[in-house]
Amino acid sequence: MLATNVLGTHATCEAAMQLFRAQHAGHLVVISSVASVRGMTGSRSAYGASKAALNSLAESIRADVLGGPIAVTTVLPGFIATDLNTGRRGPFTVDLPTGVAALTAAIEREPVRAYVPEWPWRPVSALLRVLPLPVLRLLT
Ligand SMILES: NC(=O)c1ccc[n+]([C@@H]2O[C@H](COP(=O)([O-])OP(=O)(O)OC[C@H]3O[C@@H](n4cnc5c(N)ncnc54)[C@H](OP(=O)(O)O)[C@@H]3O)[C@@H](O)[C@H]2O)c1
Repeated sequence: MLATNVLGTHATCEAAMQLFRAQHAGHLVVISSVASVRGMTGSRSAYGASKAALNSLAESIRADVLGGPIAVTTVLPGFIATDLNTGRRGPFTVDLPTGVAALTAAIEREPVRAYVPEWPWRPVSALLRVLPLPVLRLLT
């Protein structure tokens, strides 16, 4: 999980940024997760940690290119019904067409950070950030 998500994304970002720098344009989109916002219990800990690493990676690249022609977006999906989470879908899961429409709309806006879908995941993420650990562990 950690090798694929962190090292794989790092290598992919490096390759993309090489291309973007050469053409003086580009939009790097890093797919993180709402699971990156706080530590996760049990088997999800590695997934959450891998996505938290991607938030940091994307922000580092953004700092490198700030003010230039290359945009960097970090996307934090909530639950979208895909093969990834069959049988483990959480609350507020959206179907694939809804999720894809929200994802593409978010990417086209080129924000620094996008929650997908924005509702309810932006407020849920804000809540997760401040929940005390005893409460958080019951939810994750
Ligand atoms: N769906 C959600 O609710 C959700 C929520 C938060 C974040 N995300 C993130 O969204 C991204 C896309 O996921 P998805 O939901 O679209 O899932 P998906 O439909 O299952 O797609 C996962 C993709 O990852 C590839 N993959 C799986 N294991 C791999 C490995 N070891 N090495 C290289 N590639 C591998 C798969 O390739 P093959 O098809 O060739 O196996 C597939 O293209 C992921 O980064 C996921 O963490 C999804």
